[in-house]
Amino acid sequence: MAESAEVSRRDFVTVVVGAVGAVIGLCVGIPAVAYLVSPALKVQKGEDWVSCGPLENYPIGVPTLFTFTRTQVNGWERTTISYGVYILRGEGEQILALNNMCTHLSCRVSWKEDAQDYVCPCHDGHFSIDGKVVSGPPPRPLDPYQTKVENGELFIFLQEG
Ligand code: FES
Repeated sequence: MAESAEVSRRDFVTVVVGAVGAVIGLCVGIPAVAYLVSPALKVQKGEDWVSCGPLENYPIGVPTLFTFTRTQVNGWERTTISYGVYILRGEGEQILALNNMCTHLSCRVSWKEDAQDYVCPCHDGHFSIDGKVVSGPPPRPLDPYQTKVENGELFIFLQEG
């Protein structure tokens, strides 16, 4: 009978020590695993209004290039992406903002004042001042951005993804 009580105490201590060890292991292990795994679960993409500065910085009737960069986080990977936007200001708050990425194979177009065209250097694609395809292989016009003006500041709506 006494031996049975002693074994029972030993079992009890074993169980308690095991349980305390398990709790400590969970307290340390769960945050450590979460710390290691959580970046892989984060995908930072999004939509955002991007400031292009004061509207008055953009001359009327002349496409003007505005550039900026954004950093995307995808798991442990951080990627910095450069954007270019041609902003064409009309009368009042009439604004056309065009992505300067060619719709053929994504080269960057440049505004050529003398030709009054956007020209793509890769395959000689040409676009009119409002972004329509004039010649070359591009399958569609330059992509426009939605714009807004608040307190004299111009914004474009950027959708990453
Ligand atoms: S990438 Fe612009 S014409 Fe081909």
